[in-house]
This record gives sequence, structure tokens and C-alpha cells, in this order.
Amino acid sequence: MDTQTMSNEENYRFDVAGYLVIPGVLTAAELKACNKALDQRDSSNEPLRWTGPADNPLVALREHPVLTGYLRQFCGEGFRLDESLRLLGDCAEAKPLTGGGEWIDWSRAYRQHNGDRFCQGVRVYWALAEVGPGDGGLVVVPASHNSTVDAPRDLVDGTDDMGLLEQPVLQAGDLMICAESLMRGLQPVPGTATQRLLECTYISAGVRPGIESEIDGAGDEMPEWTAQLTELERAVLHNPGRSQPFPVVHSDGQQVRLAEESEVFHPSIYIRDPDSGIDEKEFYYWDLNGHLVLRGVMDEAWLKAANEAIDANPERIQTGGPVAAEETPLGSKGVPRSSMADPWALPAPYGESFQRMIADPILIQRLNWMMGSGYECMLGSGLLLAKGSAGHRLHSPAAPARVNNHYRQQNGRVYTDYVNVAWQLRDVTREDGGFVCVPGSHKTVYPMPEGIRTCENEMGLVKHLAMKAGDVLFFLGAAQGHGAYPWMGEEDRRMILFQYRSRNLYAP
Ligand SMILES: [Fe+2]
Repeated sequence: MDTQTMSNEENYRFDVAGYLVIPGVLTAAELKACNKALDQRDSSNEPLRWTGPADNPLVALREHPVLTGYLRQFCGEGFRLDESLRLLGDCAEAKPLTGGGEWIDWSRAYRQHNGDRFCQGVRVYWALAEVGPGDGGLVVVPASHNSTVDAPRDLVDGTDDMGLLEQPVLQAGDLMICAESLMRGLQPVPGTATQRLLECTYISAGVRPGIESEIDGAGDEMPEWTAQLTELERAVLHNPGRSQPFPVVHSDGQQVRLAEESEVFHPSIYIRDPDSGIDEKEFYYWDLNGHLVLRGVMDEAWLKAANEAIDANPERIQTGGPVAAEETPLGSKGVPRSSMADPWALPAPYGESFQRMIADPILIQRLNWMMGSGYECMLGSGLLLAKGSAGHRLHSPAAPARVNNHYRQQNGRVYTDYVNVAWQLRDVTREDGGFVCVPGSHKTVYPMPEGIRTCENEMGLVKHLAMKAGDVLFFLGAAQGHGAYPWMGEEDRRMILFQYRSRNLYAP
């Protein structure tokens, strides 16, 4: 990195996903020297300490100019090495995930405020050998650095990955930088393979070092006069040599007492409501990604009736004019788009399959917590695309902010003004194409890069959603970047799209 500013693509990528891979930072000679230095050590995952000149290539990684350029961007001038380099050990079984969500370690939280990014801790990985797909090892939950919702226990302990885990794919010489608050874990490395991933952390000047910090802050004694203080008073008075865990002092307003436990005590005025009627996994998934798929909402009879209703009314299908073939990933193959406006208004009995979608109980239960009551269904339309129909450029970025593209979670409620609901009348596979989105993009403050819009440079952020006939997709219609790949399925794409607007907006 020869300048001190990151590109919009890098900012967007880091802001949306919480990590960035900078390819090919190490030269072949640097890689060779680092691997040779590593070969001469034992394979423990203890911090790599400098034991002689042979370690110089590894020590040099800590000050690599490409890395330090990024560290200035994330942590500011005066950044410090917190945890020293160590080899990320191969593990026999998956370990619980750490980081992400509540409660937040504020000194490591990732946030944007008044146009400034605060990312006061980053975790850095150097790939000294390739990490291919399915190689295991490091996994992350993209976008979890921006989550303010408790991660479900099943996700943390590995009972249910909820389709959220991503294993970064790295080439030898790549540098990966993660927000410290990004949720991450270790998966078993299959077979006899071993990985050569070096890990270390950096922090901003002025935040507390981590529990395994290499920063030497101890040494200073408390002044002599403090000997006359009580243990409680000494627990609260500044101690230059104090180390974690920090003392926990309770008070009922009358008396103070020193807690025996060392876990952080930070009371809240709220308690969790087990009777909210909200599925907490759905809530977490929605907040994290900006979309949610409910499986198998429509039964066979309903699906059959809806598909027959379309088949029986071909004169209601509008087909666009001729389109020129276009050579972008989303471009048309020369086939015009087809759609059906207002399928709910088809003559009886055909409209009924679509009318019952408007206020289906499964839908209403979710819309109530997604938007709060008072929403209205503004639009119902059928997308009926033939093989070769063009995709749809990604749109609805969260930045720049407008009056209607906000998203926020606060005090256990989520707020948004538009939720789109897409009912699938046919199976959708990756080969077929169809809906794509950028999970986590509803929270970004950076503009959507052009390469994302056209899918010419997806930066590993664009996700296709495979669905079955009868599934229902909810997405943040105005706040989450979304679009569609060209339709290449043998059968026409059949998706019924409804748009729900919150009570807060007004337009006749
Ligand atoms: Fe859209």
C-alpha cells in the first residue's frame, strides 16, 4: 500500500464483511525465508519469540510496510502490536466461536461515527501456504463485526452453523486483516494437512491491551500511602501495574463489596423477553444479513394452484421488447423479460392463490417484528423470466443514506421502512440464476462499488440464494444491495414479489 488511503472497494469490503484479504503481499523470496525460519522451530502455537537471526524474516512481518499502511488506516497512528505472531494451530475438533455481537467489548468494537471509522483492534493473518476451499482451519461469520444482537448459542457452540460460517480461501503470501470483533473460530483441518497461517493482533494507542498481550504495562507499584486503604478502595484506585481480570466491585447503594467472580459486570435496564414471539435465530440472521428465507411456507396444493393460475392466464403476461445481448455477467442473452402485474387481480378462482399471500400468518408474524405494525402492501408482481433473460444490476445501497433506506437495531427492536417478500413458485439453484444480494450491506456507510453493481468484481461479497418452490424470501428492499443473475433455468423463473412499506412513510 503505497498511499495512506484505502480504496472505496476496500472500505466497502471491510465495512460489509469485517475482513479484507490483500493478495500477494509477500514476495516469493520473503515466503521462502519465512517458511524456512518456521521449519527450524517446533510446531507449537506458542507466540513466536525472536531466538536469533534465523527468525528475522518472521520478525520482519510485524513491521511489513504493506501491513503498517493498513494498520494506520484501521487503528490510527501509534498502533501497537498486542498479541505477538503465533502459528494458528491445527485443531482436531471445532472450537466455539468468539467475538461478534453483544456484549460488546467497547475497546474493540467496530463502529462508524460522524464519518470516522473506529476499529481499534485488528487481527492479522499471514498465509505462508495456500488455504484452499474445504481446508478447514480459520472460519469467520461475515458481517458479525457490525452485529449488535446476541449470537445464538447454537451458532457459538457449533450445534448449528446457520449457513453463516465462511472459511477464507488464501494463497501463499496473502495478508488477511479482520476486525477484532469479527466472530471467528477454528474448524478441524482434514486428513494430515497442516496449515501455515500466522496470527497476531494490533490495537490503537490508548485502548487497553488484550489478556494475552505482549505489551509490558506492569512494573509500577502503587504509592506507599495507598497501603492504608481498604482492599475495596485499592481495587478502584488507579493501579499502574494492574492486569486482567480487573476487579469487580458491587454496590447496593449502601455498601460495596468485592465480587469473587471476575466476569465483567455491566447491568442493563432491559431483560430478554422469552414471550416476544420472535425466533431469535431468525432475528439474528435478519439483523446480520438483511434477508431471511423461510422454508416450505406454501404446500403442494397452494403451489399447484398458483402455477396453474399463471398458466391459465397467458394474456396477462407482459413481455418487454427486444433486447440486445450484453456481455456483462448480468447482461441479457437477448431474451426479453416477462412479468405479470397484479396477479392477485386475476379472475376467480385464479387470483386467490396470490391474495392469500398478502396477509399470511407466517408472514405477518415476521413483518410485525421487522417493521412494527401499520405497514401496507404496496405492490404485487410476478417475475416470470424465460431462459436467457437478463439479470438485474445490484441496487438499493445503504449509502448514501436517504430517508427511506435506513436500518437499525435498538433495544431489541429492528427498524426499517421497506421489506420485500418474494414467494418462490419454482426451485432456484445457482445454475438457474436469480436473486443475489450482499449480506450485511444494509449497515455500510460506503457507496456500493460499480464492480458489485454489475457483478464484474463481486469481491466475494455477492451471494446467490438457492431456494425451493414454496420458500419465502424476505429482504430489505431499500437498504440491502440486491439484484439478480441472468435466468438460465430450463423452466421459467417464477417469483411473486410483494413490497411492504412501513407506517412511517407517506406518498399517495
Ligand atoms: Fe429491487
